[in-house]
Amino acid sequence: MATWLNLCSLDDIPRRGSRVVPPLDGKSSVSIAVFRTADDAVFALQDACPHKGGPLSQGIVHGNKVTCPLHGWNLDLASGEACTPDVGCAKRYETRVENGVVWLEC
Ligand code: FES
Repeated sequence: MATWLNLCSLDDIPRRGSRVVPPLDGKSSVSIAVFRTADDAVFALQDACPHKGGPLSQGIVHGNKVTCPLHGWNLDLASGEACTPDVGCAKRYETRVENGVVWLEC
């Protein structure tokens, strides 16, 4: 059964921005980037681009995508998949927003 972490208030994440969460298992070296889109959808991906590990949390959020700050790959926030012509996938995490509170599945 899924366990959900009460992460923060939706307003703690800037629109078209992100918040970085330490690895949930305490073992992984990769943090999680939690993104908020312009229309207040929330998505979470590992904070490492599938290309060369760029920090996705520092990327540009546009629509339901983020552009990696290192070499410009675009990733779909809902799936973590790189957009054509690039190929790769960032691990994604389930999120939900209830009454202005962001929950992250862990
Ligand atoms: S590391 Fe993200 S595009 Fe290269």
